[in-house]
Amino acid sequence: MQLRGNWNFPTTVRFGNGRIGELPEALKAAGIARPLLVTDPTVAKMAMTAGVLDKLKAAGIAAAMFSDVQPNPVGANVKAGVAAFKGGGHDGVIAFGGGSALDAGKLVAFMHGQTRPIWDFEDVGDWWTRADAAKIAPVVAVPTTAGTGSEVGRAAVVTNEATHTKKIIFHPAMMPKVTICDPELTVGMPPIVTAGTGMDAFAHCLEAYCGPFYHPLADGIAVEGVRLVKENLARATANGGDLEARAHMMAAAAMGATAFQKALGAIHALSHPVGALYNTHHGLTNAVFMPYVLVFNRAAIEEKIVRLAAYIGLSPSFDAFLDWVLALRRAIGVPHTLAGLKVDGRDAERIARMAPEDPTAGGNPVPLDAAAARSIFDAALAGVL
Ligand SMILES: NC(=O)c1ccc[n+]([C@@H]2O[C@H](COP(=O)([O-])OP(=O)(O)OC[C@H]3O[C@@H](n4cnc5c(N)ncnc54)[C@H](O)[C@@H]3O)[C@@H](O)[C@H]2O)c1
Ligand SMILES: [Fe+2]
Repeated sequence: MQLRGNWNFPTTVRFGNGRIGELPEALKAAGIARPLLVTDPTVAKMAMTAGVLDKLKAAGIAAAMFSDVQPNPVGANVKAGVAAFKGGGHDGVIAFGGGSALDAGKLVAFMHGQTRPIWDFEDVGDWWTRADAAKIAPVVAVPTTAGTGSEVGRAAVVTNEATHTKKIIFHPAMMPKVTICDPELTVGMPPIVTAGTGMDAFAHCLEAYCGPFYHPLADGIAVEGVRLVKENLARATANGGDLEARAHMMAAAAMGATAFQKALGAIHALSHPVGALYNTHHGLTNAVFMPYVLVFNRAAIEEKIVRLAAYIGLSPSFDAFLDWVLALRRAIGVPHTLAGLKVDGRDAERIARMAPEDPTAGGNPVPLDAAAARSIFDAALAGVL
């Protein structure tokens, strides 16, 4: 089967190898004439990025690049991007890169016309209604990792450097107008980035599926996303040039972000403070926490996990699922304990207090208070399941 398609859900998606060549048309469809391409310094230096800028030039599109975006972007990155957007007279953003660049790009497009500070738009209640929706610039999103699914999401994650907290900024109009999912753009990812980002997609599907809310649409997307991860993540990690595995992982990433409209949970609630304090890779941090959270949630999710295990071709039991998660982690080089992320116990108490306050905590199937978060953190520190 050719892994190619034009989808109009959850936004307009042009999916398939080589489709980055359609960027000029995508910009036109999004109503963008003078785009600012937002990326990170590593992707900025890659040949594929120069190729994209050359193509835009050849198509007569005056684009500029902004690349002052760090992994786990901070508020100052968005501020600098907004200055570049305004200074260059841009009318839209090409968000190009991994989740960090995609989120920063989406936030530049969102914030350029707002008067309130970015933290006023955190994903809390109806805070998003505080934004002037008429002043949100359009975005064309182009992922170069396969994990966050930010290319099909209405939220962006940014660290508040004053409080060392990762904040989720939400607005329905932050959804990219057009997304180009070109699996060829992901072949340059080193194995550990492939593994970490892929485990983020997995964590999104898993936590969405396990969330305690009624949302069968999300559940259906999530279970197929987990199946794609099972069939393809180890392949893509072992052989970065396996374009079939790359394509399926790119689809799984978009599916994870679509499904997590339902819920995320303790994996993300713990990963966010750890990422904010230690600047660890988000997906890899999720991957470390995953089995400990599965065990912590076991009583509430066992029945669901048995069904999921059967669907993805494992023997229908919680233990078979857990064993597979552990084997996958080993196969793709995910550390078993937090020490592998250079995280020790010195901030355990602080992280345990921060986790229940993360907006994702409310989606965990077992209530997550500080004591519960501490017990999961300690288990991940000691490597005890
Ligand atoms: N918006 C959302 O819904 C959402 C969901 C989950 C995570 N996030 C956020 O996304 C960020 C993580 O994104 P990520 O996991 O994609 O990592 P990332 O964007 O930080 O990228 C990781 C590394 O890979 C490099 N890279 C990117 N594409 C590459 C390629 N094709 N070849 C070689 N190297 C490449 C980057 O330069 C970077 O060094 C975190 O800030 C996280 O909190 C957002
Ligand atoms: Fe995530």
